[in-house]
Amino acid sequence: MLTPLTALVRPPAASFTQALSRQSNRPRIDHNLACVQHRNYVEMLKTLGAQVDVLEPLDAFPDSVFIEDNAIILDDFALLTSMGAESRRGETLHTKSALERYRNVEVLQPPVYVDGGDVLQVGRTIFVGQSTRTNPLAVEAIARLTDRPVVPVAVRDGLHLKSAVSGLTGELLLINPRHIDPAPFAAYSCIEVDADEPNAANCVTLNGTVLMPKGNPKTRALVEQRGLEVRAMPMSEFEKADGGLTCLSLLIPK
Ligand code: GLY
Repeated sequence: MLTPLTALVRPPAASFTQALSRQSNRPRIDHNLACVQHRNYVEMLKTLGAQVDVLEPLDAFPDSVFIEDNAIILDDFALLTSMGAESRRGETLHTKSALERYRNVEVLQPPVYVDGGDVLQVGRTIFVGQSTRTNPLAVEAIARLTDRPVVPVAVRDGLHLKSAVSGLTGELLLINPRHIDPAPFAAYSCIEVDADEPNAANCVTLNGTVLMPKGNPKTRALVEQRGLEVRAMPMSEFEKADGGLTCLSLLIPK
């Protein structure tokens, strides 16, 4: 039985080639290829049972394709984030009206800073990455607004918490312990990504199928050994801007 959910997505802006990147000598982003990869992603979400709500591209915001960072979706409301990168802060107002179709929206404000890519929900626990984008005040703010456990996690390398850990099932995580402190996840069963495949840690699991970025065969085999179905998705153009599969959607359970 499929879990009904809506995915909010925003196609790559014409300005996506100027997106932020932590990579020195980043390869040139191919805008046309990014659009093809994004369309394939949308089609895959639909194939796996999601209703997809496609928003307008935002040319004033090169990183706006990474819509996950704009909000945190909780059971009965959503939190509009107060984003860590100044150039991205205007994105959230454009996402707010779309989000209000599905949830009541509360708005986080500076000095709280948080990107949605730093917030991983596993069961009732909300893990919050402490990264260059998300500060300890975010942990306090989210804890005040929910009655759920909120746990900080140190992000040592990479952009966001979810660049380094994904929930595959309610009990099984895929993790890169070289990029985050794995200690807060000690109670879970974890698969470690292969050391040569750090991008593999950013996966989306939808209705029992794991979407994994293409080019991570060793990690894919480890996940398949646990009996999970894996589909590999080309993500090259988004990886040039430090993005991955989770970054491209806000998943909203119905
Ligand atoms: N390029 C994605 C980000 O820096 O937020």
